[in-house]
Amino acid sequence: MSIGQRKLDHLHHVLNDAQVDRNGRYFDAFRLLHNALPEINLSDVDIRCTFLNKTLDAPLLISSMTGGDHPELARINQRLAEAAEACGVALAVGSQRIQFERPASVDSFNLRQFAPSIPLIANLGAVQLNYQLNAHHAQEAVNQLDADGLYLHLNPLQEAIQPEGDTNFSHLWSAITELATTMDKPLLLKEVGCGLSPQLIRQGLAQGIHYFDVAGSGGTSWSRIEQLRSANNPIGLTFQDWGLPTPWILKQCRPIATQAQLIASGGLRNGVDVVKSIVLGARIAGMAAPFLQPAMESTQAVIDVIEQIKQEIRISLFLLGKKNIDAIWLNNNLIVDVAEGNPL
Ligand SMILES: Cc1cc2nc3c(=O)[nH]c(=O)nc-3n(C[C@H](O)[C@H](O)[C@H](O)COP(=O)(O)O)c2cc1C
Repeated sequence: MSIGQRKLDHLHHVLNDAQVDRNGRYFDAFRLLHNALPEINLSDVDIRCTFLNKTLDAPLLISSMTGGDHPELARINQRLAEAAEACGVALAVGSQRIQFERPASVDSFNLRQFAPSIPLIANLGAVQLNYQLNAHHAQEAVNQLDADGLYLHLNPLQEAIQPEGDTNFSHLWSAITELATTMDKPLLLKEVGCGLSPQLIRQGLAQGIHYFDVAGSGGTSWSRIEQLRSANNPIGLTFQDWGLPTPWILKQCRPIATQAQLIASGGLRNGVDVVKSIVLGARIAGMAAPFLQPAMESTQAVIDVIEQIKQEIRISLFLLGKKNIDAIWLNNNLIVDVAEGNPL
């Protein structure tokens, strides 16, 4: 099956099977400490932040989803780019491997024309460094998008369940760290919904990688999606909840959150989840699946979702009595681990 068809299949399953979103709600295990007397004006709350040397209007990223030579995939990316630009948030594209196999796909990655000022992040699967891609392709992916960085995604579970999966992850770490030294833009490591372990993040930091999108479990399940694509393979269901919950990873990474630029994603579904992520040490937060249906509709539909999340972030800061993102970042006094009943 071609990659283009596979990408369309993925979108179809995300949109049509409600259980692809595992709805783990792991962020509910944490509670922000409500301040009944905030002593600030809601209209003074400022949720801007800096990411990849650019100012964002909110600490939000539309996570990697798609791109390809089908017109629908290009339309989705254009709408996401227009909305991200209008709202001042960051945007990552889906894997650009397809542009090396089907050259007509490049149009779907020419997004700078729609998003001149925001951070754009290119994307390739790390395991492809063991197959047909190398540093030259990585740089070309960045150039195509005029990107501010390159996501390398790690997806061993997805590849293991996918009938045509690329499962040779041997010696990949040396290929990744070597690539990080040759790129002219930052390399960002990400998972796709099973989570980067705190140990792997420490390992990356030691090798000079600074950006990590934890992409933990609780949201979109690639194991389930791949099972839906090949109904004869029940193993995908066994693993549909495999992985490390996003807030658990963030909590474990608090001691290194000043060195690492952590991006929270995987199962975040509203602005309160975003604020919890930042209090736990993330610099910004990403969501993928919540933007897909709106992106099938219109740019305005994506803008509406982003604006709602922005307002939820503003109200959360107001209810914490904090005027800006710096005041909540990695702030132990603002969050309770419900299970333990104590502030962190
Ligand atoms: C339709 C769809 C396509 C995706 N494609 C990619 C991809 O090509 N590369 C990648 O790194 N992640 C991809 N992801 C994973 C997301 O970037 C994100 O890490 C994951 O879905 C968890 O976020 P969520 O729970 O908010 O959906 C995709 C997600 C969705 C929903």
